Amino acid sequence: MTEFVAVAGVDELEAGEMRAFDVRGVKIAVANVGGAFHAFDDTCTHAGCSLAGGDLEETTVICPCHGSEFDVRSGEVLQGPAREPVETYETRVEDGSLKIEG
Ligand code: FES
Repeated sequence: MTEFVAVAGVDELEAGEMRAFDVRGVKIAVANVGGAFHAFDDTCTHAGCSLAGGDLEETTVICPCHGSEFDVRSGEVLQGPAREPVETYETRVEDGSLKIEG
């Protein structure tokens, strides 16, 4: 069964913001896109930079190091140099807590 780990209060991450959390030893970034939370690996598949340190434009995260772009909903690469997608994770909101599959 999928387990969810509480990482923050839902009101700690405002719309348009991203933040990385340590979920059982894996750095997972969460983006708030208009109130919907999308979780994905924080580590860029190109050279390992933190995606949460980049920019979020609607549903696209832009890596701060060399500009790779990923879709936060699917993890798919939209723009290189990265070639491999990032893993995505389910999120859920319960009792005011933001939870990530972990
Ligand atoms: S480390 Fe992300 S684009 Fe190079």
